[in-house]
Amino acid sequence: MIVFEKATELNQFLAREREKGKTVGFVPTMGALHNGHISLINKARNENSMVVASVFVNPTQFNNAEDLKKYPRTIEADKALLEENGCDVLFFPSVEEIYPEKDNTVFDLGGLDTLMEGKFRPGHFNGVAMVVKRLFQIVQPEHAYFGEKDFQQLAIIRYMVSSEKLPVNIISCPTLRESSGLAMSSRNMRLTKEEKVEAAAIYRALLEAKENAKTLQPHEVKEIFEQSISQNSAFKFEYFEIVDSENLLPVKEWNPQRKATGCVAVWIRDVRLIDNLLIFP
Ligand code: PAF
Repeated sequence: MIVFEKATELNQFLAREREKGKTVGFVPTMGALHNGHISLINKARNENSMVVASVFVNPTQFNNAEDLKKYPRTIEADKALLEENGCDVLFFPSVEEIYPEKDNTVFDLGGLDTLMEGKFRPGHFNGVAMVVKRLFQIVQPEHAYFGEKDFQQLAIIRYMVSSEKLPVNIISCPTLRESSGLAMSSRNMRLTKEEKVEAAAIYRALLEAKENAKTLQPHEVKEIFEQSISQNSAFKFEYFEIVDSENLLPVKEWNPQRKATGCVAVWIRDVRLIDNLLIFP
């Protein structure tokens, strides 16, 4: 695996590879890699002749300085895991490399950035759009791979790519879970063994919501979910929303023609976890 820290060097290297007829599959990450990321690498490897991954903890998407400081950083383990799994190129830039000067771009994200995560993490999605656009300009991939665990992020990246007319196909990959049901996430590294056991209740509550959606109205499903999470002393509940899976608008009643996804955010101690599940139909 070749590691690049400089954008122009990576860009020139990939231009030469493309002249040889290679196609590039790109997996942007913030590191602290787990099997969820590896599933993206595997898919990218199967669908392209070259796989490029990036590890960059993007400061512009953190609205909380403490969260940025505590975000797990495990670059040596990340490199080994990428190498083992057939990644060809790693882009590991510094903050100065990505942001040589302050970027004040404000993206129009079609209002998708004002709900759920956007409400609780103001500016977060603008930072995501900023870094993803920049990475796409450097790497110029044919395909880019994102996990469905970040359901709202995926919708926003698709919107940004379409409105900015970027020539890249966005491919989504299913959430990988521990055997307990806990969604794999870099943030899980900050949980104790006991907290990981507690955290599996999030997925159980999502499954219960899916079951309840067969007989109850959305507001009832929401109430039961909120009660079950709020009653668990391990959690500080942030939100649970049932949204249209395409446009992310809150679902007031079930429509058999449209899918609905339940999206949740909770805190365990000072670790924020998100998850989602298709709950209707
Ligand atoms: O999902 C992530 O890890 C990040 O939000 C991303 C897409 C790599 C942008 O920093």
